[in-house]
Amino acid sequence: MTRLVVVSNRVASPTETKGSAGGLAVGVFGALKDSGGVWFGWSGDVVSDSVANQGPKLEQDGAVTFATVGLPKKDYDQYYRGFSNATLWPVFHYRNDLAVYDRDEYAGYRRVNSWLAHRAIKLLQPDDVIWVHDYHLIPFGEALRSEGVTNRMGFFLHIPFPSPQILLNIPPHEELVKSLCCYDVVGFQTPGDQAAFHDYIVRHAHGTATADGEVEAFGRKLKTGVYRIGIFPDEIAEQATRGEARQDVMDLKQSLEGRKLIMSVDRLDYSKGLVERFKAFEHFLEKSPEWRGNVTLVQIAPPTRSDVDTYQQIRHNLEYEAGRINGRYSGLDYTPIRYMNQRYDRWKLMSLFRESQIGLVTPLRDGMNLVAKEYVAAQNPDDPGVLVLSQFAGAADEMKGALMVNPHDIVGMSEAIGRALSMPLAERRERYETNMVMLRKYDLGVWRDSFLADLRGVKLDKQQSKRPANNK
Ligand code: G6P
Repeated sequence: MTRLVVVSNRVASPTETKGSAGGLAVGVFGALKDSGGVWFGWSGDVVSDSVANQGPKLEQDGAVTFATVGLPKKDYDQYYRGFSNATLWPVFHYRNDLAVYDRDEYAGYRRVNSWLAHRAIKLLQPDDVIWVHDYHLIPFGEALRSEGVTNRMGFFLHIPFPSPQILLNIPPHEELVKSLCCYDVVGFQTPGDQAAFHDYIVRHAHGTATADGEVEAFGRKLKTGVYRIGIFPDEIAEQATRGEARQDVMDLKQSLEGRKLIMSVDRLDYSKGLVERFKAFEHFLEKSPEWRGNVTLVQIAPPTRSDVDTYQQIRHNLEYEAGRINGRYSGLDYTPIRYMNQRYDRWKLMSLFRESQIGLVTPLRDGMNLVAKEYVAAQNPDDPGVLVLSQFAGAADEMKGALMVNPHDIVGMSEAIGRALSMPLAERRERYETNMVMLRKYDLGVWRDSFLADLRGVKLDKQQSKRPANNK
């Protein structure tokens, strides 16, 4: 099998891939181990110019090389904090209102992508298959092509692809789409994301796109596809039960004193709908006095991107809401919302999921949302909790056994909480089984293998493995 080169903004460390990292890292590492290869990306460190230019730091683990580079402060500011997370992230999550656009940051984003591509070239072999991940690295493939790289190259977008009317808000939208067209395969989480991309190609790039994903635009042919990212459900179930007896979980159980438990775990991000969720829980307590003192919402929200203004704002709002609602409904021995900003070990989260009666996953917009899937897989099949899920998470396409909610409808979410808390066992089991069928059908291995099969199956046309032309 040809070697695989994975490129992503963050690279798991060799020790993380052995268990503590998210399923994605474990899944990608599995593919790298099978074929041998390189995992290349940013180390997460901000370093001086001279250190950054020293060349990638290499760590070997069997047939896999981990190659990471640090970023100078200016590059970090423009590429990561700026264009990736203050422009692309909000717009791709339909939050134009929170997006800022700065030409210099965009120039920095492209410059860093070219610089990263230049670093990566030295690690490439002629037959390598290159798999690039996520919005930070849209121009990476184009930068490789402009250095003469003709290898098979695929790109997977982990976040939503917005409808063209939204995307048009980013001034260099055409350049971004043109960059995407430099890949041989472009993968999306859901049919809706793929359709939005096709829509742009046809209506704004003068290209063509067929229902089975054959796209022609900017003088290039590529394939698009829907590859639903999943989890390994048995692994999650094992983590959830392994943790059961551990002290922290016992402590939480004891402190709940028999109260029902609602679990939510998200990065502290405005796309996750945290404020709306807190308000829905407040509304539930307001309308259901019999539940006051009898149900606790545990919200675990590790801070993220805290040097971006909008993230400081959401943190502030959430602290205010948690304080306000707890002030309203706490008793001497009862706190309705336990809101925590720490990161927890995965096994602990999975066993907390298993202890709970509801998994409340209500993002305003989400590419997939693996927490929703992990919540289901962590349940006790004999007595499962209920997943309450936003219709705007990619996972809603598959998790038909969830109670589906619109996260803008506070009353609707509050009603779903009430329904889930009093749902009979037979219905809970049926919903759990429905979800598990999909989790098994589209597990992480299927996601990875189907993307790579499509990428490896691409017929190389050296003529077109060049930079794209202008369509107009
Ligand atoms: C999302 C993105 C990932 C990103 C992760 C954590 O899931 O799709 O690409 O790595 O958030 O965000 P951070 O900015 O901390 O890397």
